[in-house]
Amino acid sequence: MTHRIQVQENFDLSKFTTMGVLCKASHFVEVHSIDELKEALNFAHQHILNVLILGGGSNLLFIKDYEGLVIHVDLKGIEVIEEDNSSVTIKAAAGEIWHDLVLMAVSNNWAGIENLSLIPGSVGAAPIQNIGAYGVELKDTFISLEALERSTGKVQTFTKEECKFGYRDSIFKNEAKGNYIITSVQLRLQKNGKPTLEYKALKEYLSEREIDNPSIREVSQAVIAIRQSKLPDPDEIGNTGSFFKNPVISATQFKQLEAEYPTIPSYKISDTHIKVPAGWLIEQAGWKGKRKGDAGVHSKQALVLVNHGNATGEEIWNLAHAIQLSVSEKFNISLTPEVNIIG
Ligand code: EPU
Repeated sequence: MTHRIQVQENFDLSKFTTMGVLCKASHFVEVHSIDELKEALNFAHQHILNVLILGGGSNLLFIKDYEGLVIHVDLKGIEVIEEDNSSVTIKAAAGEIWHDLVLMAVSNNWAGIENLSLIPGSVGAAPIQNIGAYGVELKDTFISLEALERSTGKVQTFTKEECKFGYRDSIFKNEAKGNYIITSVQLRLQKNGKPTLEYKALKEYLSEREIDNPSIREVSQAVIAIRQSKLPDPDEIGNTGSFFKNPVISATQFKQLEAEYPTIPSYKISDTHIKVPAGWLIEQAGWKGKRKGDAGVHSKQALVLVNHGNATGEEIWNLAHAIQLSVSEKFNISLTPEVNIIG
């Protein structure tokens, strides 16, 4: 077999993650096709190397150098595979930038993913944590995905049901973790679709500007403006978006908290369970805007941990631990990272 892939050794990964912490991979390769991906997996097998799949690097924290082969999946292409009067099904390769796909949908006036504007990362990573924002999740437009099974080298299709999507969750974070490499995703978007405007911050933004019947483009622009006002731009300051998941607590515990903190925001999940914003808990625990060296808590959104310059992954992780501890002591709630911790 002719070797097209180029494996690099002792490779600096800092520019491949949005947190931007200094970190090296013992081996690194970029793949542009499924054949190259298979070759890379063979290489890892032959050299007995662990494998880590890297998309946009926007949801990863390396807490030490990585011993193994990091495969940067750079598969490209977006195509319309089905279309009728009311909807269009698009297939996007895993290495496409998520926001580019959103912009393409918005410019065609196809509804469904405009609320997911400006989420950093790649298309292939989107299903793994069922990305969500402003009242919409990937699963709402998701049809299926293709993924290479590592043990057989075969490409398999996963339907929406088979992906077992949940809040920031899917089969790929649980029983199928590490077994598959997502190569493409199919979504169905609506041609005359109505935007989803239930999320409070989005509704307020639009009504303050007297935009009563927003177009798909106006919703996308509103989401972009809201995100830019609260979330740090990874090109300017290293971060991985929300560091923790919003915890779900029992209605009983929530009632006790509400008695003590009447302004606590919440989202009802069911009659017995309530989701509370981790950002609020972290702010109440006194962490908003704090920093320890170059590891910090964002000043406008306490759920986001930031790298002010030269923080190490370990320093960010230590800060995360300190936050978990104080939120647990103050509220008896444990925070779970949303970010994948590698180390
Ligand atoms: N809040 C505070 N202090 C803070 C941050 C938030 O009091 O420092 C309060 C806000 O005032 C608001 C509530 O918490 O009442 C919720 O805040 P926000 O609307 O900013 O949303 P979030 O719960 O902090 C979640 C997602 C975000 C997503 C937004 C919008 C998670 C873990 N995070 O954040 O997703 O953009 O909702 O839908 O579910 C991401 O996953 O990386 C991400 C950014």
